[in-house]
Amino acid sequence: MKVCVFGANGYVGASLYQLAKEIPDAAVTGTYLEEPSLFDDLYKLDVNQPESFSEFYKETNPDVVVWSVMDGPNEHELTDQGLIHLITHLTPQTKLIYISSDFVFTEGKGPYSEEDPMSKLPDDHLYSTYANAKVKAERFITSQISNYVILRAGPIYGENKIGKLDERTDELAYHLSSGRPIAYRDDLIRTFVHVDDLAQIIKEQIQSDVTGVYHIGSGESSSFYGFMREMTERLGYNPQLVEKGSETEVVDKEVPKNTSLKTEKIKQITKLNFR
Ligand SMILES: NC(=O)c1ccc[n+]([C@@H]2O[C@H](COP(=O)([O-])OP(=O)(O)OC[C@H]3O[C@@H](n4cnc5c(N)ncnc54)[C@H](OP(=O)(O)O)[C@@H]3O)[C@@H](O)[C@H]2O)c1
Repeated sequence: MKVCVFGANGYVGASLYQLAKEIPDAAVTGTYLEEPSLFDDLYKLDVNQPESFSEFYKETNPDVVVWSVMDGPNEHELTDQGLIHLITHLTPQTKLIYISSDFVFTEGKGPYSEEDPMSKLPDDHLYSTYANAKVKAERFITSQISNYVILRAGPIYGENKIGKLDERTDELAYHLSSGRPIAYRDDLIRTFVHVDDLAQIIKEQIQSDVTGVYHIGSGESSSFYGFMREMTERLGYNPQLVEKGSETEVVDKEVPKNTSLKTEKIKQITKLNFR
């Protein structure tokens, strides 16, 4: 089986790239964009460039594709160009594993199940680029192909397989080590998921015929404030250093409040005990 991980240089992609190599009989390739490459055997590729994408894809000809790319302010291009290039190359036999986000539920009235309708943010909203590109990508995938798994995740945390922490925990650890307090909001509710739990689910999906949309995580939700206090204790610091952040917001620019995810569906197809 040939597996290709687009975004193998990233936080999630790097964990998955290592894990996927443990699959018996799997030939795993991966791509990166910016130097340095974390692994010697990754291919440098801009997924938005049609000629090089096509050349790489035809050479690789994978049975399973994992799309783990993300590009903040250019997220729309990843959907409008990269993802479209990919979909035009997929055969009906090729399985696409797409990592999506709880931010497809921009109304923030969770917890959400897989069947709940997605929504977009106004174009001038701070998070519209990412959220709306994810909604567009999901709609595109579900309307164009049938051999796909969309895995929706809330904030991903923890040390990945190459020792990299998520930016949020990294910032927390930095503050704590210098004894300085740090504030997080208590009104933003999420389903946090450990990076290696997500990577394990993707590994299982590479080897499975299951298709559809799945929410990832334990099903427990917490606020950023509550979660970060817990992380602080786990890191061995005094949780009093974590304070409640301001909840004052600009009207019409509010961050979606509760994007937590119901995760019963994924538990029917995995034995993994989410952290
Ligand atoms: N992190 C989270 O909390 C979170 C939550 C929910 C969902 N997700 C989803 O999980 C997936 C992985 O996220 P992540 O946290 O691992 O992101 P990440 O660390 O930023 O990794 C994304 C990777 O995409 C690659 N990339 C960006 N633009 C590219 C382009 N034009 N062509 C080729 N590669 C390109 C980058 O490669 P280089 O490093 O080589 O530049 C980077 O390694 C994304 O789909 C994201 O939306 C993440």
